[in-house]
Amino acid sequence: MHVLAIDQGTSGTKAVVVAPDGTALAATEVAHAPRHLADGGVEHDPAVIWQAVVDTGRRALAAAALPDGALAAVALANQGETVLAWDRATGVPLSPAVVWQDRRAAAVTDALRARGAADEVARRTGLVLDPYFSAPKLRWLRDHVTRDGVVTTLDTWLVHRLCGAFVTDVSTAGRSMLTTLDDPTTWDPALLDLLGLGAEELPTIVASDDVVGTTDVFGPRVLVTGLVVDQQAALLAQGCWDAGTVKCTFGTGAFLLAQTGTDPVLSSSGLTTSPAWRLRDETRFCVDGQVYTAASAVDWLAGLGVLGSASEVDAVAADDAGGVQFVPALTGLAAPWWQPAATASLTGLRLGTGRGEVVRAVVEGVAASVAHLLEAVRGDGAPVASLRVDGGLTRSRVLVQALADRAQVAVEVHPSAHATPLGAAVAARLGLDAALTPAEALPRVVPRHVVHPTWSPDRAASEQRRWHDAAALVARTERTEHP
Ligand code: G3P
Repeated sequence: MHVLAIDQGTSGTKAVVVAPDGTALAATEVAHAPRHLADGGVEHDPAVIWQAVVDTGRRALAAAALPDGALAAVALANQGETVLAWDRATGVPLSPAVVWQDRRAAAVTDALRARGAADEVARRTGLVLDPYFSAPKLRWLRDHVTRDGVVTTLDTWLVHRLCGAFVTDVSTAGRSMLTTLDDPTTWDPALLDLLGLGAEELPTIVASDDVVGTTDVFGPRVLVTGLVVDQQAALLAQGCWDAGTVKCTFGTGAFLLAQTGTDPVLSSSGLTTSPAWRLRDETRFCVDGQVYTAASAVDWLAGLGVLGSASEVDAVAADDAGGVQFVPALTGLAAPWWQPAATASLTGLRLGTGRGEVVRAVVEGVAASVAHLLEAVRGDGAPVASLRVDGGLTRSRVLVQALADRAQVAVEVHPSAHATPLGAAVAARLGLDAALTPAEALPRVVPRHVVHPTWSPDRAASEQRRWHDAAALVARTERTEHP
C-alpha cells in the first residue's frame, strides 16, 4: 500500500513515494519561485505548477521502482490559500494563481472591516480579515481579473486535473473565511453573501481520508485520497494529535500550529483558529500563527547577493548580529499583528556592519517572530513543553538554536526533510484502509536532534523585548492605498 504524496508548495513542488510503514522511499523536487509584482502581487503560472506536479510524481515513481500494482494512491498537500480562476469544462486556467502571500485583496478586507464585519468573521470562522485568506482573493479575482469560469483554491484545480473531481478538503476550506468553526463541512450562505460570492459554483468539501477519484497521470490508475493543507499535513506528520502539541514548519513562510483537539479554541492573543483535518468523521482543530517570510527572507538575501544561496546561512552568519534587528515583514505582518501593509525593517546598521551580521539578524528576526507566536499560544493558556519543527530552514543550526534561545523551549527537529508529504500520506493510508485507526496510522516521531536553550530566561526576555519594539514600529505602518 504505497502512496505517492505530492507537496505542492509555494517555492517548489515535491513528490515522495511513501512505503506502507510511513517512510520515504524516493523523493524528487523542483523549484518554481513565484513572481513578485511591484503592487504587492505574488503569482504563479498554473501551467508551471501542474507540470511540476506531473514531473516530480513521475520521477519519484521511477526512482522508487515499485513492483507492478504496489502504488495504491496519490495524496496532495496544498498551499492552502492560493487561488485561481479556471474553466470547469476544459480545466484551462483563466488567471494566474494568486499566491497566499499576495496583498492585493487588502482593499476587500479593508472594506469589510469598515463595514464592521471583523468581529463576526473572527467569531464564526476563527480567521482575521486579512488578504492572506482565500475568500478575499476570490473576490479580488472576480473584481479585477475575470467573471468567467470558477474561482477556487489551487488544490481544487489540481485534483480536477488529476481525476475530474470538483472538491476541496475541510482543512483547505477552513482557510477561506467561507466555512464556520461550528460547521466546517459546508459553505456558509451568510459568509458567501458577505464576500459577494453567493453566486459562485463551489467545490464539494470532503474529508482528508475521502477517496475522491482515480488517476492515471502517473502510470497505472490509482486512487486519489489524502487531501490536506500543507501546514496541517506537517502537523499530522509531527504526530500532533493531542491537544497542546505544537509544531512549526519553516518553508517559504513559517507556520506555527497548536493542536486543540475536537473543540475549536478561539485565541485571545491574535492567533487564528482552523480545522486541522477531518479524518474518520471527526474534525480536529488547531490555532495557528504565521510568519509570511521565512525562507523567502533568506532567498531575498540571496537575490541581493548577500548570500550565494540559502544553504550558506550557517557558514556566513556572524556569532552575533551586532545590534542589527530584522523584522521579516517583506509581505506584511500576520499574527498577532495583522498589518498587511507593513513592510520589513533592518535597523541598527553601522559602517562596520558586515554581511555576517545582516544574515544573523535575518535568521534571528525569523526566530524571534516564531518565538513571539509561541508566546501567544502560551498566552492562550496552552502549556508548551516542547516545539517540534520541520521544513528546509531547520537544516540551519543557527536558526534552530536561536529559536530555542528566544522561545525558551526544547526544539525537536523532525527526522525527515519530507514531513509535509509524509503527513498527506498518513491521511491517504486512512483513506485506503477503513480498518486502520488514526493511532495506528500516526507516525512515532523520533527527533533528529533536540536543541535546548543556552540563553538565560532574563536574556531571552530582554532580546525579545528589543525585537518586539522593532516589530511594533513596523506594525504601525500607515494603511496605504491598495490598487
Ligand atoms: O498558508 C500558506 C502555507 O501553507 C504555504 O506553505 O510550505 O508553501 O511555505 P509553504
